[in-house]
Formats: sequence, C-alpha cells, structure tokens
Amino acid sequence: MTEPIAYFPRSRPGPVLVRGEGAFLWDQEGRRYTDLGVSHGVGNLGHSPPAVVHAIQRQAAELLYLGTGYDVPVRGEFLERLAGCLPPSLHRIFLSNSGTESVEAAIKFARAATGRPKVVAAMRGFHGRTYGALSATWRKEFREGFEPLVPDFVHVPFNDVPALEAAVDESTALVLLEPVQGEGGVHVADASYLRAARARTEATGALLGFDEVQTGLARTGRMFAFERWGVVPDVLTLAKSLAGGVPIGATVTTEAVRERFHGSHHSTFGGNPLACAAGVAALDVTLREKLWERAERLGAMAQGRLRALPPESVREVRGLGLMIGIELRDRVAPVLERLERQGFLALPAGATVLRLLPPLVIAEDDLRAGLEAVEEAIVHG
Ligand SMILES: Cc1ncc(COP(=O)(O)O)c(C=O)c1O
Repeated sequence: MTEPIAYFPRSRPGPVLVRGEGAFLWDQEGRRYTDLGVSHGVGNLGHSPPAVVHAIQRQAAELLYLGTGYDVPVRGEFLERLAGCLPPSLHRIFLSNSGTESVEAAIKFARAATGRPKVVAAMRGFHGRTYGALSATWRKEFREGFEPLVPDFVHVPFNDVPALEAAVDESTALVLLEPVQGEGGVHVADASYLRAARARTEATGALLGFDEVQTGLARTGRMFAFERWGVVPDVLTLAKSLAGGVPIGATVTTEAVRERFHGSHHSTFGGNPLACAAGVAALDVTLREKLWERAERLGAMAQGRLRALPPESVREVRGLGLMIGIELRDRVAPVLERLERQGFLALPAGATVLRLLPPLVIAEDDLRAGLEAVEEAIVHG
C-alpha cells in the first residue's frame, strides 16, 4: 500500500494496524494483537490513553501552536509537573521533539558549559540517529556509511569501572550512559559502575549524563531508573512516553550547567502546546496510578516466570521492572514471527535478544497470557 513511497519499507509484510486501545492493537481485518513492545517504549500508558486523548482534543481546539517566544500556561504547567517528579537539583528543562534531539541538546549543553570536547559513551549504547547522538551510539550498522561522525567521542565497555576511570579526564565534557541499555540488549548497570561514573566525573569536572529515553517514566520500577541507585546525574534525557504518544523530548540539567551554557540552542516545535498538554495528562496518570509500582510488581512476576525457561533455549533473562530482555540461544526473528502469528507483538534488541516493554497499564491476566505465548514461542516454536 505505502510501499512505493516508504523510504524503509518493512522487510517482510506484517499486519496493517489501524486502531489501538490500552495494551491492544487491531489490524484492518479486525484481528486483535497484544502489544508487548509498545513501539519501543512509547506507550507506557498504553495506546490512545483516554486522559491524553482528551487533553490533546481540548488543546488542539484552543491553541494548537505557539512558538517559545511567548509564554503559554500549559507549557509552564508541564515544566512544573516534570520538575516536580525530579530531584531538586534537576530543574532546568529544554523541550524538543524526540529522543535523539534530547541527546543532541545534552551533548551541546555539556560541550558549551564545560568548554571541553570529549564525550565518553558505552559500548552497546544507543542514543539516537542524528549526528551527535549517532556518534555516541555504538553499533557499527547504525554508523556505517555516515562517517565521519562527530570527533572526540570514545566508547568504553559497559560496567567496566577501570576502563571508564581511564577514559574520563580533564578534557571530558560528558559521560553519557543508559542506566539500562535498551537497544543494546537490555543490560542493567551495576550500582558500583554508576557510582564510579559519578565520582570520576566530579573529580575531573566532567558532567554525568543519563539517557533515560527508554528507561524513564516508571518503566523500570522507579519514576526514573537512576533513583534505584541514588546517583543523580547533571544531565538527563527523556522522550518516548513522556507525552503519552505525542512526539516530545526533554533535556534536563542542573542550574550550574545552565549558568555555564552561553551558546544558542532552539527548536521551533519544542515545547509546543499540544505536546505539553499531552505531557501534563501523561504525567498525571503516571503519578496518580503510581505506575512505577505496577512496573516493579508485574516486572518481578514476569522475570521470575521467564527465568524458569529451560537453559537449552534461553541463556539469560535480564531487566528492571517491565523492561525485560530474554537472551536466546538462537536468533530472535523467528520467535517474533511466531508470536505475531499468535497475536502478540514484541521487539528484538539485537540478533538474539527478545525484548518486552509491555504497557505499564496492562491487566495482569493479559500480561500472563503474553508471557505464556512468549514461553510457547521460545520453547515449542
Ligand atoms: C536510550 C535511547 N536514547 C535515544 C533514543 C532515540 O530516540 P528517538 O528515536 O525518539 O530519536 C532511543 C530510541 O530508541 C533510546 O532508546
């Protein structure tokens, strides 16, 4: 249908999905799918969450667009709501439209604020596809063909404290890490690693940045994953589910970073009223429903169950809350196809990892049915 004009058409035909509600999607034949991947983590609140839909409808009728040159109450409301979820030191917020833009801003703010060039990122890390974010991204397939990338980016093995300490020096502007590496296969940071990153950045005058584009907003059993370790960064990037499915990105920094930043950075659509209205509604639902508690409880149940899968099929189950990676002994693609045929949609994270990012609002019975289908698809094919 869209094939002739799509830049990157699907490699194989899949269902044409036309409607979503909560944990479910429907294709144009009316077949229902349980979405265990929610478009790479955008749908923490599920598909078309009613509170977000109503907020968008109201805001669109009232004021659809207004540039950042003018104040609009809903933007202020959203910024206050978001700042209220964060530690007091993190309250300077720059709004954009996607995860990669939030990372791009983080890199620019860090370089300009410190006057230093070097960015230290982790092997297997994923931070986006624009040039700065791509330069921090590890996988060769994503970088190939686009070189030269931005200079002075180095990658160190994840969870390797001595390697990190050796790489971070007086020329380092930013250490950029995902507390749980998502695209790279769902690898959870060690507490000692994040604490060492905090100590080394403080000692050298570099900034510590956490990319919580995928882990943020209750996904891992805390509102933000870093809360689990008590390590507060200088720079935090958010996107995906922040506005319940409407494009948005946020780069949050300390006051000290903001004060030292003397450059120019801007986005025409960043902080637009529609995204802000959606963001207020999405944060309100997340807070009211304490979705991090659901993620923690359902995540423990799901991970416990998946860890009982036979070692002949599964190497390891990793994750935090409802961000789960199942490292298979074989390729994941056929398992995903089997699941799709059974009416369940999940994600890969590399060639052999099956990734589950179910909506945090999913009913426990629906999640159990999803897990049963996953177990069946892995073990019996
Ligand atoms: C940790 C992380 N950072 C950045 C991005 C890029 O976000 P976007 O696709 O919205 O540009 C992603 C997307 O998967 C991500 O997982």
